[in-house]
Amino acid sequence: MLRDTYDRPVKDLRISVTDRCNFRCTYCMPFDDYEWADKKEILTFEEIARLASLFVQLGVDKIRLTGGEPLLRRGLEKLIRKLSSLNGVKDLCLTTNGSLLAEKVYALQFAGLKRVNVSLDTLNPEKFARIRRRGNLAKVLEGLFAAKSYGLDPIKVNAVIERGVNDDDIVDLVEFSRKNGFTIRFIEYMDVGNSNNWTSEKLVSKKEILAIINARYPLREVGRDKGSAPSVDYEFIDGSGELGVIASVSEPFCSSCSRARLTADGKLATCLFSATGHDLKALLRNGATDEEIMEVISAIWRKRTDRYSDERLVAMNSARGYRAKDHKKIEMINLGG
Ligand code: GTP
Ligand code: 5AD
Ligand code: SF4
Ligand code: SF4
Repeated sequence: MLRDTYDRPVKDLRISVTDRCNFRCTYCMPFDDYEWADKKEILTFEEIARLASLFVQLGVDKIRLTGGEPLLRRGLEKLIRKLSSLNGVKDLCLTTNGSLLAEKVYALQFAGLKRVNVSLDTLNPEKFARIRRRGNLAKVLEGLFAAKSYGLDPIKVNAVIERGVNDDDIVDLVEFSRKNGFTIRFIEYMDVGNSNNWTSEKLVSKKEILAIINARYPLREVGRDKGSAPSVDYEFIDGSGELGVIASVSEPFCSSCSRARLTADGKLATCLFSATGHDLKALLRNGATDEEIMEVISAIWRKRTDRYSDERLVAMNSARGYRAKDHKKIEMINLGG
């Protein structure tokens, strides 16, 4: 089986289907103007499905579609149909900002999508406008409830917590999720990309998040799905469901990281914090055979040494400290988280 230098297999493929987004979240891509990739540089559904099938032959059994905002890609359900019929894919999921979910969920579910993760950081409409800078809360809520009515399960709610911005929304978000049967995951604010002005002061740690929740709704730790998921899951002691915390900064999980990322323009990134990707599109468009492409991917993975978040923690705890600005990375909007 294919393994990297730390003996980690490739199990998950996160595919960005577009770099475009209709939101401008302060924690991801706050700028009004952004130079989107040219249409002809974006992989076609046929190219994505071909690469996905090669990754599956190398060990991938979980595929996630991301963006930018994946539902901006016209006809996404056609890609979902192709991917859901790939032999060996046990889990096919979508991470979305929810703004277009209400109108698209029927087609997505019909094409074979079983579950969805939706970003939602606050239930306060004014605060939503401040954080996400476009769109509106009501549409996202409509999307969440539409997903529920079409039977998608589980429906996970992703909330990025930033100190002084929405740390006072944590209990509201827990109550909303418990009441409606959604699984909320609180995400430590990360220094993804180069555009969000991250500093460690803005971080609300997993420890703090859990203390706030435990004071109202006592929790019991369940652990990480398959031992390697980003989220550490907890169940409410009163039996009313689960939540998760994704603590990439304070408790990094690089040692078990089996995730590869494909950008919308066909670059393979072996870490969320990679500075550059490897161009697979050139191979596809220059007539490489499946075997040749698999050999290139395998060679990249075998050499993989990424453990960015582990290294960040070491730097943060050192005398020298850690400055996000010293590290150039691929933008989150190109990598899809
Ligand atoms: P599930 O399969 O439903 O558990 O989803 P997921 O948590 O793997 O994916 P999702 O797209 O919902 O991502 C949630 C958060 O985890 C986002 O902030 C991602 O950027 C972050 N995340 C996912 N994978 C990694 C990773 O490998 N490293 C780091 N540092 N963060 C990650
Ligand atoms: N820190 C943590 N998570 C982030 N996301 C976007 N930007 C950040 C950040 N700076 C999350 C989104 C979405 C997922 C793909 O990544 O909320 O749920
Ligand atoms: Fe926000 Fe996601 Fe768009 Fe980034 S890609 S601006 S996190 S909605
Ligand atoms: Fe994997 Fe990189 Fe995230 Fe570590 S920081 S878990 S190596 S994607």
